[in-house]
Formats: sequence, structure tokens, C-alpha cells
Amino acid sequence: MKRLFLFLISFSVVLVLASSGKARVSGMCSNCHTMHNSQNGQVVSGNGPHMALTKYDCVGCHSSSESSTTYMLGNSVVPVVLYTGGNAPTNYLAGGNFWWVKEGLGNTDGQVGDPKGHNVFLNEDDDFLTEAPGSAISCTNSCHIKLSQPSIIEGKYGCTGCHVYPKHHADDHPNGNYNNVVGESGGWYRYLAAAHTTGYGVEGIEDNDWEATVSASDHNEYFGKPGNLSGTGGFMSIQANTMTAYCTGCHGNFHIENDNAGGGSPWLRHPSDAVIPSSGEYANYTVYNPLAPVARPDLTALGGPSATVTPGQDMVMCLSCHRPHGTPYDDILRWDYSQCTVGDSTNCGCFVCHTNKGIFQ
Ligand code: HEC
Ligand code: HEC
Ligand code: HEC
Ligand code: HEC
Ligand code: HEC
Ligand code: HEC
Repeated sequence: MKRLFLFLISFSVVLVLASSGKARVSGMCSNCHTMHNSQNGQVVSGNGPHMALTKYDCVGCHSSSESSTTYMLGNSVVPVVLYTGGNAPTNYLAGGNFWWVKEGLGNTDGQVGDPKGHNVFLNEDDDFLTEAPGSAISCTNSCHIKLSQPSIIEGKYGCTGCHVYPKHHADDHPNGNYNNVVGESGGWYRYLAAAHTTGYGVEGIEDNDWEATVSASDHNEYFGKPGNLSGTGGFMSIQANTMTAYCTGCHGNFHIENDNAGGGSPWLRHPSDAVIPSSGEYANYTVYNPLAPVARPDLTALGGPSATVTPGQDMVMCLSCHRPHGTPYDDILRWDYSQCTVGDSTNCGCFVCHTNKGIFQ
């Protein structure tokens, strides 16, 4: 009874603070775990048993045919990353959805398939890419080459190729919802830890429904660190727990100093973690648009999700243009780049920052 009471209290707090952080997983152990993979003499999970005695594997638990955003497993809310219903989902969480990758297996019509997301399904290699584009590291049998095969890191692949050390039971929000726990004992932002070194992972402010509802004032916040880079990406060379550092762990060459011509216009590759100038067309991006999110230099000062973008301070980063899981668009972009035409701003995220190239403003 006391538990139920506490649950009700925390539930109403969550309702009141719609965008504040979530705690660790909640709910009955048996929602998610099975001790022997057996109930009434019947096998619980056909492809089990699974690590940590969970009832399903990562994909299994994070899939739903009914909802493309969240579903209830007993009294636990599960974020969905793979919608298994028949039609393409119209709503998806911040990371996108693997629907287009999964539907694309064996399908070459261009509407679905490998370019729509990371290939996380076992043995379903990318038809076009033999390694992570821009990878600064070429070691075989690793997640830099493919995410669809068990790798040299404890056989991790797919979901755990990126969410290397899942921490469903960690208190990952010590200061409200801002994660600043260093090391593997705490969960980093969405369990995005460095794979080869300890002490690094992604810091961010986690939206409590993973952006199932999203608006200018209701969204994740990402950490960025401006400045030139002397190496080829990754946490070790960037020395900061940013999302860009995380992506460049596998796509390092997309963020090199020399390629960025010393860090200024004219650029040779589109910059990431570059400050949005407070002049020219850029100065017009002042109201946060979830179509093209920005990274912030100081999340502690920010405190929570902010509807304001501050040119001269906030940054463009990898997830300004991409989602990590899957989208309806090639190159896992957040919008249909093929529709981006000078002067025609229909849902083209480029114009959120390059305001004079479209007709936003
Ligand atoms: C909403 C789902 C969910 C619920 C409820 C849940 N767990 Fe877990 N638990 C997981 C998942 C997923 C993992 C494996 C991945 C990980 O460790 O993050 C896990 C891992 C574990 C582990 C091994 C890793 C660790 O953190 O020690 C233990 C032990 C564990 N759970 C015990 C429990 C007990 C006891 C309960 C009930 C009080 C419980 N769990 C409730 C999802 C859940
Ligand atoms: C038995 C069900 C279950 C399994 C198995 C499971 N998860 Fe989860 N996972 C959950 C639930 C429930 C949540 C939501 C936790 C919360 O409320 O913050 C979650 C949350 C997450 C999150 C978001 C964390 C955050 O900060 O919001 C990630 C990332 C994740 N899981 C990855 C994985 C990976 C990788 C695996 C496989 C190793 C896995 N999950 C296995 C149930 C599961
Ligand atoms: C290429 C790396 C990568 C792979 C592979 C990957 N994820 Fe993620 N995942 C991320 C990132 C980055 C985020 C944070 C997205 C954001 O906040 O914008 C995320 C977010 C999540 C979330 C929170 C919901 C959301 O959309 O923000 C869950 C749950 C999750 N991942 C589970 C999984 C599962 C399950 C798999 C395997 C089917 C998987 N991930 C594969 C990088 C990855
Ligand atoms: C653990 C390594 C790893 C990490 C971390 C990683 N990627 Fe990838 N990425 C790959 C691999 C391998 C491929 C090529 C095969 C595939 O698409 O799965 C790839 C492909 C891509 C593609 C091209 C997709 C296609 O098929 O055309 C994009 C875009 C991309 N990644 C963006 C990102 C972004 C943005 C992040 C950070 C959120 C990120 N990646 C993090 C390994 C990684
Ligand atoms: C979140 C904001 C943001 C988004 C979205 C964005 N950009 Fe940029 N872009 C920038 C910033 C910041 C610079 C560097 C400005 C500077 O320092 O001169 C830049 C630079 C550029 C440049 C080089 C300009 C120069 O002066 O050398 C081009 C070209 C460009 N972007 C095209 C695009 C295209 C095409 C898209 C959509 C695919 C896009 N950008 C999306 C922020 C953004
Ligand atoms: C301004 C928007 C923008 C930003 C920021 C951005 N990308 Fe891209 N990315 C694109 C577009 C557009 C493409 C499609 C190919 C092209 O136009 O070069 C692409 C393509 C890719 C590809 C596929 C390349 C191939 O050979 O198929 C990868 C991998 C990738 N991006 C990773 C990243 C990573 C990692 C970051 C952060 C360091 C990043 N992107 C930042 C817009 C962006």
C-alpha cells in the first residue's frame, strides 16, 4: 500500500513537471525479468534466455506493433525504437525508429532500406557501406565496421554497439535531470558511454517521455563544446562528454581541424559543435525548433529544457541534422533533403539556421 502511495505521488510529480527527468526503471521485477525463462512449464521467451534474466532482448522489449512511441509493460513505460505495425509510423521518439531499416531488409525500392538507419539487425549488413563513413579507425570485427555482427568488445553489436553499458537500474539523474555521473557506475545520457575508455560518456538533459511529445519548450538538451580539434574525433581527442564526440568515436574524420580549415568560414566539411554566429542569417535562429536541435555549452546553467536559442553561444552538432536510429529519409536525416530547394522551405531543417536560404523567418 505504501509503495502504491509513493508510486502515485511520484506519478503526479511527473505529470506536474512534464519535462523533468525520469528516475531509473520502475515497476515489478516480473514485468521485465524471468528467473528460469519458464512459467507453468512453458518457455517465456522463444529466443531466450537473455542476459540479466530479462524476458526479452533489447530489440524485443523496445518493439511494439501497437505504438511507435511508448507502450506499457505491466506498469512500466517502455520507449519504442522499433515499430512493428504494418504502415510507416508518423510519430517517433527523439532517436527515430528502425521501422524503415527493418522493412527494407530484402527490399530495394528506395523508400525503405539501409540508408534510412543504422543496421542493427543480426547478419543484416548494409548493402552500400562496408564501414562507418569517416571512420578514423579500421579494426576488423568492430562496431566501426558494422553494427550487424558481434564485435571484439564482448561480442556487443546492434543496440549494445552504441548503448555499450546499459544501466536500467542506475540513478542517472543526480542533479534533477542533468547527468554528470562520471564512470560506469552511473548511467550516462541514454546509456551512451565510451566503449574503449572509462570516465567518458554523453551528458545531456533527458526529456522524460523521450520526445513522444515535443515542442520548443519540451525536448532533450544536448551538450556541445566549441573549438578546433587536433585529432580525429571521439571522446579522447575532444575531451568532453558531447554528442558530437560520441558520434565521431566511429565517424571521426567528419570533425577534423584541418578539414575545417582552422575552424572558420569557408568550411570544407559542415562543422559540428561550431557556434552559430550571432550575425547574418544565423542570428534569426532564436526560438528552439526540434526539427534542428542545437547543443549548449553549459547544461548546468541551462538547468532544464529551454525554448531559447542563443546565437553566438549555442552550436550546430551531429543531431542537428541526423537521428541515430532510423528515419524515413536517406542518410538518417531529420528531414527530406531532396525536398530542400532554394527559396522553398517546406519542412527543410537546413533553413532553421540558414534562414535566408529558405522562406522561414
Ligand atoms: C522495466 C523493466 C525492469 C524492471 C521493472 C526491473 N528490471 Fe532489472 N533489469 C532490466 C533490464 C533491461 C536489465 C538489463 C540491462 C541493464 O542492466 O541495464 C536489468 C538488469 C538487472 C540486474 C543486473 C544488472 C544490475 O543493475 O545489477 C539485476 C540484478 C536486476 N535487473 C534486478 C531487478 C530486480 C530485483 C527488480 C525488481 C525490484 C528489477 N530488476 C526490475 C529491466 C528491469
Ligand atoms: C524487459 C524490457 C527491457 C529490456 C530487455 C531492455 N530494456 Fe531498455 N528500457 C526498458 C524500459 C522500461 C525503459 C524506460 C526506463 C525509464 O523509465 O527511464 C528502458 C530504457 C532504455 C533506454 C533509455 C534510457 C533513458 O535514459 O531514458 C535505452 C537507451 C535502453 N533502454 C536500451 C536498452 C538496451 C541496449 C537493451 C539491451 C541490452 C535494453 N534496453 C533492454 C525496458 C527494457
Ligand atoms: C548508432 C548508435 C545507436 C544505435 C545502434 C542504437 N542507438 Fe539507441 N540511441 C542512440 C542515441 C544517440 C540516442 C539519443 C537520441 C536523442 O536523444 O536525440 C538513443 C536513444 C535511445 C532510446 C531513448 C529513446 C529515444 O528515441 O531517444 C532508447 C530506448 C534506445 N536508444 C534504445 C536502442 C535500442 C533498443 C537499440 C537497438 C535496436 C538502439 N537504441 C540502437 C544511439 C544508438
Ligand atoms: C559504434 C560505432 C558507431 C557510432 C557510435 C555511430 N555510428 Fe553511424 N555508422 C556506423 C556504421 C558501422 C555505419 C555503416 C553501416 C550502417 O549504416 O549501419 C554507420 C552509418 C551512419 C550513417 C549513414 C547511414 C547509411 O546507411 O547511409 C549516418 C548518417 C551515421 N552513421 C550517423 C551517425 C550519427 C549522427 C551518430 C551519433 C549519434 C553515429 N552515426 C554514431 C557506426 C557508428
Ligand atoms: C543547427 C544549425 C544548422 C543547421 C540545421 C544547418 N547548418 Fe549549415 N552551418 C551552421 C553553422 C553554425 C555554420 C558555420 C557558420 C560559420 O561559422 O561561418 C554552417 C555552415 C554551413 C555552410 C558553409 C558556409 C560557409 O560560410 O563556409 C554550408 C554550405 C551549410 N552550412 C549548409 C547547410 C545545409 C545544406 C544544411 C542542411 C543539410 C545545413 N547547413 C544545416 C549551422 C547549421
Ligand atoms: C548540417 C547538417 C549536418 C550535420 C551537422 C551533420 N551531417 Fe552528416 N550528413 C548530412 C547530409 C545532408 C548528408 C548526406 C550526404 C551529403 O550531403 O554529404 C550526411 C551524411 C552523413 C553520413 C553518410 C556519409 C556517406 O558516405 O554515406 C554520415 C556517416 C554522417 N553524415 C555522419 C555525421 C556525423 C558523425 C556528424 C557529426 C560530426 C554529422 N554527420 C553532422 C548533414 C549533416
